This record gives sequence, C-alpha cells and structure tokens, in this order.
Amino acid sequence: AEYDLLVLNGVAITHNETNEYDIAVKDGKIAKLVRRGEISISQAKKTIDAEGAMVMPGGVDAHVHLDEPPLFGKGSTADNYETGTRSAIAGGTTTVITFAPQNKAEPSLLKCLAATHARADNNCYSDYSFHLICSNAGPLAISEFAALREAGISSLKIYMTYEALQLQDSEVLDVLFEARKQKIVTMIHAENGAIIDWTIKKLEEKELFAPKYHVNSHPPVAEIEATYRAISLSEFIDVPILIVHVSSPSAAKHISDAQKKNLPVYAETCPQYFTLTRKDLDKPGFEGAKCVCSPPPREGVQDHEGIWKGLEDGTFTILSSDHCPFIFDNTETGKSSVITKEYPVGHFKYIPNGCPGVETRLALAMSAKRLTMERFVEVTSTNAAKLYGLYPKKGGLVPGESDADLTIWYPEGMKEYQLNNEMLHHNVDYTPYEGQTIKQWPRYTILRGEVVWDKDNGGITKPKGYGKFLKRDTSSLAGPRNAEEWDVEKF
Ligand code: URP
Ligand code: ZN
Ligand code: ZN
Repeated sequence: AEYDLLVLNGVAITHNETNEYDIAVKDGKIAKLVRRGEISISQAKKTIDAEGAMVMPGGVDAHVHLDEPPLFGKGSTADNYETGTRSAIAGGTTTVITFAPQNKAEPSLLKCLAATHARADNNCYSDYSFHLICSNAGPLAISEFAALREAGISSLKIYMTYEALQLQDSEVLDVLFEARKQKIVTMIHAENGAIIDWTIKKLEEKELFAPKYHVNSHPPVAEIEATYRAISLSEFIDVPILIVHVSSPSAAKHISDAQKKNLPVYAETCPQYFTLTRKDLDKPGFEGAKCVCSPPPREGVQDHEGIWKGLEDGTFTILSSDHCPFIFDNTETGKSSVITKEYPVGHFKYIPNGCPGVETRLALAMSAKRLTMERFVEVTSTNAAKLYGLYPKKGGLVPGESDADLTIWYPEGMKEYQLNNEMLHHNVDYTPYEGQTIKQWPRYTILRGEVVWDKDNGGITKPKGYGKFLKRDTSSLAGPRNAEEWDVEKF
C-alpha cells in the first residue's frame, strides 16, 4: 500500500484553516491532505474513521515538570518521565517540553542537561524536549549557552522568586544578554520574591497558617510588578522573553502594552487560571493544599474573564499546563509532612507549589467552549512549536514536513460528565479539577503515525520508549527588533 495510515472523514483543523480533509500518513509524516474520498481505503495499510470529528495537530505542552529533585526544598515531583508522558498522551498531547533543573550549587548547565537526559531516556510515551532552568547564572553557565544550542536546547527558564532559584536583576541581564547572542528564548517566572517573603512573615506574625493564606502571600502586585520589570529588562537588551503562567489580568495588560510597542514579549497562561479561584484553597483542614500553585488562583469570574480575553485576543501566545505534581497524602510533600503538632492545619509556606494538569489541559480548554477551534490549535499546539523551534515538525499538518501527530476528538462531543482522578494516568492521588464538567476528550492520540491512545479500546496502546527526544531549532516567532549587535553606546 502507498500509505501507512489514512484518517478518514475528519474535519482537519490547523491554526489557520478548517477543511473536510482525509489525511494520508507515510513513514511517520503527514504525506497528503485531500478532499474526502480522493484516496481509497485500499491505498493504505490501516485506516481510522474520524466519523466527522475534529482532527488536529497533537497537543504541544511547553511547561511540564517531571522527575525534578526537591529544588524548592519541598519534595520531588510525583511524576517521572514514564508516568508524566503517559498522562500527556492520554490527554491528547504528543509533545512535552519539560525542565532540566539546575541546582544553585551546580555551576554547569550541561551537567544538568546530561542528568535530565538520563532520567528521560527510553522512558517516554510522548516526544519531548527540555528547557534548562538556570538558577546559577555564573560565568560557566553563561559560557555554556552556545553548547546548549548545539545540543538542541533553544530556551531557558529563570526565576525572580524562590530563594533556591531566584536571580537578581543584574543576573537576569547577564542571561538575557547571552540569550540574545545565542538566539535563546528566556522564560521568566515573574513574581517579586521580596514582596512574597515579607508578606509570609506578616502572616506568620498573626499565626495564619492554613493553605488559603498561600493566596495572601502571593498578591497580584507581586506578579504585576515583576512582569513589568521583566518586560523592561528584556526591552533594554532587545531580546524575546516569555512570561510563564500569567494569572492576573493586570499583568496581562503590561504584556499587551509591550506587544503593542512591537516588543518580542510572549506570554503563557494555564487552565488553573480560568478554572480555579482562591475559594478552592479555602476548604476545611488541609484540602486547600491541592490547589496551591504560584502564582495562585485569583479572585473569581472577573479574573477568569480577563484570562479568556487574553487567550482570545492574542496576548497569550500559549496555553500550557504547568504540570507540577506532588502527592497529597504522603510523608515527603503532602499532609503527613506539612501537618505537625505545631501546625495542625499545616503551614502554607511548606506546601510544595504546583498542580498536576498535563492530561486535563486540552479537555478543560475544549469543554469551556470559549475559543474558536483554530485559535484553540494555535495556543495549545502551533504557537508552542513555533516559539520553541519545533514548527512545522510539530504543531502543524504540513505535508512532507509535519510529523503525523494527531489528536482526534469525539464526533458530537460527549455526554457531559464530572472529571475525577480515577480516570487519569498520572502518578498523583488527586486532581485539582475534580468535579469539573467535561464535554470532550481526545478519542485517539497519534504520534508519528502510530496510535498511542485509543480511549475506547484499551487506552494506552504503545509501550514507553516510543517517545523520542526532539532537538530544537531557534524560535520562528519574531526576535529582537534590531538586527545589529547590542551596543551600550546607544543608550
Ligand atoms: O506553582 C508552580 N507553578 N509550581 C511549578 C514551578 C513553577 O514555578 O513553574
Ligand atoms: Zn514558574
Ligand atoms: Zn512551572
């Protein structure tokens, strides 16, 4: 047969087109998109009938924490590369970009990269790449940026908060300056560490320890100020940045103002910021710990509307999960370690920050029915691939160029149901989205032409190890406004 696989009777949706196309796959790549009926079944080894459902490029989740050591001093992440990427494909995501974290005591980024490769090698169900987390921006780390590019890494994450990770502004400038030279995208966790630490002390003085005080300790102004500062530093160096996990509409306003000035400022938001509120942390006992992440969920509907507006109007380039899983009920990261005699309801500052969500990202965004389907593809797949140097191999349906990574949905949606953790494939004992209404879920996930998830026939259908490391190129989104070398004499 001429083709390995034919996906028939689907509605093929990309970031800019919707067509009733059949999709022919050969050697793991998209070979052809044709009008329905133009290719006959006999021309392919295998067929899948989409039955009129939407067929999209596989999801690209560019913010996933797997198998990270206890960098925040609060226990290691619950999912490793096996369980995290298994969860990804069960939720329609075919590519994850996870983090290779650097401990401040380790000056070499290349060593951290090698250690992360060893954790991921032969363990993945989805394709994957890494962002380096740079927490020690010393001369060795900076001198290694060029070698990182050689190794297929074109992005870094830095933090403006968390003692174990935080860089001072001068170090942020060092990173941005070299990132510009090496065409690296810098992701910035923009929260003002001093405001957070100072506010934690004030809460402790009043003996306010319950999980809900995590929200008080991370006020919107900490995010808004740091976002504006990050934009200013990147404007000075004239280099692209991505502000990760934006939760406040007022921070988004700084971002859209920067974008109106044509600055290469990109932004990410996550499902927690349009589904959860501070009320989800205000539950009896320790229950609220399940929704502790940073920045925290905000006040309510107004904030959620602001996040949707940013997703609709392009302020947010990507919608990622920030999957950062911890076990709720255990002795390392959960209630048995945080609840002590001294702190009978726990102490919010010892709760590890982060929520699981790699599997629920696409279904939650789809079930909300807010975005056009083309915009949905753009923010959940295409833009992540473009921003991080994977497009059109990932994030598109370009014949001859794109990997045959597909997410196929149910034809008429599904009968509504309430999400529960039993359905999920991560290694976490809860989901923060328990009880959320689900109207759609990926029926098939296809990775490089192979069905890896078939919801109605066995679920996960291929063993771990099929997922491969992706060497990445430079970003294909707009870079520095000025092509010339940065020169201090211009200022
Ligand atoms: O609370 C969060 N977001 N934890 C994950 C680590 C990070 O800052 O992304
Ligand atoms: Zn972060
Ligand atoms: Zn994160």
